[in-house]
Amino acid sequence: MSWNTVTLDVADGVANLTVDRPDALNAMNTETLGEIESAIAEATEQEARVLVLTGAGDDAFIAGADIDYMKEFSTPEALAYAERGQGVVRDLRGFPGVTIAAINGYAFGGGCEFALACDLRVASERAVIGQTEIDLGIIPGWGGTQLLQRLVSDELARRLIFFGDRLDATDAHEHGLIGEVVAHDDLYDHVDEMAAELAAKPRHALYAAKEALNAYHETGGEGAMTVERRAWSGLFGTPDQREGMTAFVEKRDPEFE
Ligand code: COA
Repeated sequence: MSWNTVTLDVADGVANLTVDRPDALNAMNTETLGEIESAIAEATEQEARVLVLTGAGDDAFIAGADIDYMKEFSTPEALAYAERGQGVVRDLRGFPGVTIAAINGYAFGGGCEFALACDLRVASERAVIGQTEIDLGIIPGWGGTQLLQRLVSDELARRLIFFGDRLDATDAHEHGLIGEVVAHDDLYDHVDEMAAELAAKPRHALYAAKEALNAYHETGGEGAMTVERRAWSGLFGTPDQREGMTAFVEKRDPEFE
């Protein structure tokens, strides 16, 4: 299969899924979300045991949802977009095998959320990661308010979301947000080795382990996702959301109410 904004390569039980919009730092519009969904379905169909998610180019994993694309969203449009993004989070969490985010650079907003939705996170020393939505006048809408607390303390999750801090790889690792930091040039070799080792594990045990591990976190999860989706989309159309996103596109500092 071929897509415009993602590539998928499946070999030896390992699927490499790359978001491929390097000119926009791999920011995601609705086409990208649809293609990621379709690529995950294809990797599942091909019975990959491991799925590695990364971003094309040398700078970004995924710089988030495409701000230019969503800046004029109405609340219903934003709700539909939140459902799409949360759908990808569900697909990553529901992928039967192990998912690894190979974080090669910026991972902000939805990019951070997709990394959080993976089972494991390995980052290049150049990675910077954060839920930066607050400075656009919105909040995380693709699972960030739920996924972050699985990995870091409730206090830190609140700090990251309230302040929109961008953590470098070392800080993110120290706080448990990512599992491992490696030299930038070694990232893919290292992740390839991990993926090959996992792909050689007994398939049904691997799948069962993931299912059981996920179950621990999923009590009440759907209700919370609905709360998040409504809260996120309700911010579209507010003056601060319009100002935050317009200022980004116009390359100036926002002036909030
Ligand atoms: N949506 C749309 N376009 C984006 C984007 C996003 N989330 N992130 C980056 N881009 C685009 C920029 O508009 C720019 O496009 P242009 O070349 O047509 O002007 C291009 O990617 C390069 O980004 P730029 O900001 O010029 O690069 P930089 O190296 O100075 O900064 C970042 C990189 C990632 C720090 C900065 O782009 C950024 O803060 N992006 C927004 C991140 C964010 O808040 N994401 C959450 C969205 S909900």
